[in-house]
This record gives sequence, structure tokens and C-alpha cells, in this order.
Amino acid sequence: MNYTTIQNIDSLSKWVKQALKIKKKPLKNKKLGKDKTLGMLFFNSSLRTRLSTQKAALNLGMNVMVMNFTNEGWTLEFEDGAIMNSGASEHIKEAAEVVSQYCDIIAVRAFAGLIDKEKDNAETVLSGFIKHATVPIINMESATAHPLQALADAITMAEYKTKHKPKVVLSWAPHPKALPQAVANSFLEMMQLQDADFILTHPQGYELNPDITKGVTVEYDQNKAFENADFIYAKNWSSYKDYGQVTNSDTSWTITAEKMKRTNNAKFMHCLPVRRNVIVTDEVLDSENSIVIEQANNRTFAAQLVLQKILKTKLDPKKATKKSKK
Ligand code: CP
Repeated sequence: MNYTTIQNIDSLSKWVKQALKIKKKPLKNKKLGKDKTLGMLFFNSSLRTRLSTQKAALNLGMNVMVMNFTNEGWTLEFEDGAIMNSGASEHIKEAAEVVSQYCDIIAVRAFAGLIDKEKDNAETVLSGFIKHATVPIINMESATAHPLQALADAITMAEYKTKHKPKVVLSWAPHPKALPQAVANSFLEMMQLQDADFILTHPQGYELNPDITKGVTVEYDQNKAFENADFIYAKNWSSYKDYGQVTNSDTSWTITAEKMKRTNNAKFMHCLPVRRNVIVTDEVLDSENSIVIEQANNRTFAAQLVLQKILKTKLDPKKATKKSKK
């Protein structure tokens, strides 16, 4: 079993319930991961993903090895048949299989380069590990998806929702740098697995991948989108159309207390890290309605659920979900 996309979740409501059970007793399965090793490979920076996934593994009694590929690993080649006479020292074929000798599960973080849309959509790094590793793979945010974050978001919303079908708004907000679309993509996919009145709001030109937004209501008027919302999830992403470009830095899209007044006393969510007074004002982020710290806390239980499922699959093949490698 891999966990590389939201599509790996067979029943979101079941997974959320299981994660909340883990949250109540995180050390209950302390022996499950005994003598098993999680290898965490980072091609990009992280705070939450690194520490929460490591904490989750420790809660299960696993050993953890962390490697920062940006400054510690050999530069990898991903192209089949490449003549490796320039920058890259090692091919993914050997690298992934070698890491599999040391680790029972491999977790990979490799963001979008935001230069070549086709290459990012092909998930070169993650796909390379999925194809060539011989152990399960966990996506710790790839070029197009952040399924651990989206699972933690689902857990958090389940904890805070006060009605069966809440109104949830995913709002673009400004940012000085070009950011990937991964968090927004996985959040959208996750929202499609639950009962909610879901609205996506962003400026013209910031449309996400149409394959992912199919059937999603888009409202270009942010104020209108916020009306009576129960959850406001803010996130920046760079343009998908003008791939990787920052074509809009309109500060009128910053989430303010004034805008939050339009909502139904909505909870404020963000995956973090967040740029204060750019994405969201201090007033909103420091308010009682902000649940960003609980979202970050739930990253541990999302990761622990995923690790637990993989460990059970490996320990007892009868429990395996028969999913083809993606
Ligand atoms: N939300 C999230 O993935 O945080 P990090 O980039 O710090 O891991």
C-alpha cells in the first residue's frame, strides 16, 4: 500500500474516525512498528511534515532515518536512458532500490519546480520512487499533491464542524513568491469526498488544474464566497495557466477580520507556514476562530494513521488493500 494521493483513501469518514481514535491514545500501538524503519527523504524544506511524521513513527515504535537530499544526497537523474555525463551522479533506479534495502517505508517530499508544467504533472521524483523502490511510499508533498495535509485538514474539520454539511471556502490569498498548487489540489480532492457546500474563490487567471476542479463551484467575488461560510481555508498558489507565475498580488484578497464578519463565525484554516499580514492579518490568525495550530497538531495523527495502515498491511497481507501502484 502506498499513500501518495487522496485517491488512496477508501473511505474518508472511516479514516477520520480512525485518526481521531489514534489521537485519543497515540501510544496504543507502540509495538506495531518495532524493528521497522521509516526513511524520510527531503528535496525541500519542512517543519510540520518532518516533525509530525517523525513523531507519528516514534508513537508506533518505529526507527526513523531522515535525509536532506538538497545538500546531503547525490544529485539524482530521473530520465530513463540518460547519458549521465553532466550534473547528476546517481540514477533514481539505483537510489530508490538502495534506500529500500535500509527502510521498510519511504516518505518523500519533492515540490513542483514550477517551470515545466508537464514535468511537474508527471511527478518525476515521486513517480521515480514509486516505480523503483521495493517498499511502500508516502507522499510528504509532491509537485501536485499534499495528501497528508489534506487528511489532517479533514480530521480538523470533523472536530470543529457544527453541522453535517458545512459551507467550506478555499480562498486564494496573495503571496510574494510563486508557490505550488499541491495543497489546494489535495484539499479540493478531499472536499469532494465529503458532504459540504464547497466553494473555491480566487482571482481570474488563478484557475487550478481543470481535471481537479471539475464540478467545483468557483466564485471570483471573494466577499460573496465568504457569505455564511463555516470554514475559511486560505492558501496561495501560483498561476496554473501562466504556469508558476505570480500574475496577481492584489492585497484586497488578504483575509481580514472585516471579511471574516461576512461568515457564519467561520473557523480560519491554513496549512502553515503562513505569511502574516500578507495571506491573513494578525487579527484573524490570533483570533479564537483560528484553528491552524490544531491543524498542525493533527498532522501527527494523519501520518500515524497512514503509517499504521501500511504497517498492518505489511504485517498481515490479508489486511492489504489491493491497490495498484500509482
Ligand atoms: N504544511 C506543511 O506541509 O508544513 P511544512 O512545509 O513545514 O512541512
